[in-house]
Amino acid sequence: MLKVAILYNLFERLQKGEERDIVAEGAIVEEIGAVEKAVRSLGHQCIVMAVREEIFPVIHWLKEYQPDVVFNLCESVYGNSCWEMNVPALLDLFRIPYTGSSPLTLGLCQDKGKVKDILQSQGILTPRYKVFERAMGPVKGNIFPIIVKPLHEDGSLGITRESVVFDDETLSKQIQYVIEQYQQPALVEEFIEGRELNVGLMETNGEVGVLPVSEIDYSEFPEEVPKICGYEAKWVIESPEYQKSKPICPAPLEWVMKKRIEHIAVKVFKLFGCRDYSRVDIRIDRDGKIYVLEVNPNPDISPQSGMARALGVQGITYTEFVGNLLERALLRK
Ligand SMILES: Nc1ncnc2c1ncn2[C@@H]1O[C@H](COP(=O)(O)OP(=O)(O)O)[C@@H](O)[C@H]1O
Ligand SMILES: [Mg+2]
Repeated sequence: MLKVAILYNLFERLQKGEERDIVAEGAIVEEIGAVEKAVRSLGHQCIVMAVREEIFPVIHWLKEYQPDVVFNLCESVYGNSCWEMNVPALLDLFRIPYTGSSPLTLGLCQDKGKVKDILQSQGILTPRYKVFERAMGPVKGNIFPIIVKPLHEDGSLGITRESVVFDDETLSKQIQYVIEQYQQPALVEEFIEGRELNVGLMETNGEVGVLPVSEIDYSEFPEEVPKICGYEAKWVIESPEYQKSKPICPAPLEWVMKKRIEHIAVKVFKLFGCRDYSRVDIRIDRDGKIYVLEVNPNPDISPQSGMARALGVQGITYTEFVGNLLERALLRK
């Protein structure tokens, strides 16, 4: 029997962004419940610990409790997504094994611009982009549509139907919105029209396995709404975006296309040094070109997540998945 500690972040007051972003933070509750249940059903002891507004209680508690392994569900610290990496960094210094990626990988992937620099350097397609640190007047010479996103967020925070822009003026307005509201640079990207796919990956016995690819079907989206998985589609149950974006898993893909996607996903997993499990988000344009949108080490694994769905389709139970992550973490001890 192992002493397993689930660590997660809990921050009641948001530091930035929109009031409603707290909903996205709250979704972690179901994730913790599912992981805890799986850990217990594997016959282990399980304690859940929140990282709140002070790190010292966590440090004391880790010293007292001495867990054999930590299940790391922290996505930010003190409401700062760029500090997600500091929790595993702390665990490394304590020599406590933990699930998921290293601080380096988590920190790197939290900067979507750097991720794209690295993708490009390896000849992996990603939408063309520019990072804006400061708001400025209309920028000329753009090819629209363009999407504007916060550089460092997850869970579609700061991404709404307004994020897809069609003219210079709205572009600079959106850049200003992201910089001011989310207190971070804005990532401005070429908008890729086409199919959207999520590729879950999982390591077993040192091999990176690709789970069944999942597609977000936008075919029933209202005409006037951009086909994106923005904040509404992810979190606002009563919105048309939420109700009309259907996940399909496995995605209907021709064999060659499926192989190409799997090859790229595995390459990306290794390129960023991802560990245990990850999800790569992809778009395919009308010419069949595959673009990597972003890399998610330690992705959402709540029961309704794409990752959980893909595991189910593959015939891997949630408990097996959790067991595999714990096993892999312990191997690193
Ligand atoms: N360059 C792009 N072209 C088309 N759609 C995009 C692009 N970038 C993001 N999106 C849409 O926005 C969603 C969220 O963007 P993403 O970068 O994955 O942020 P998050 O980390 O919040 O998931 C994507 O799932 C996709 O639907
Ligand atoms: Mg994404």
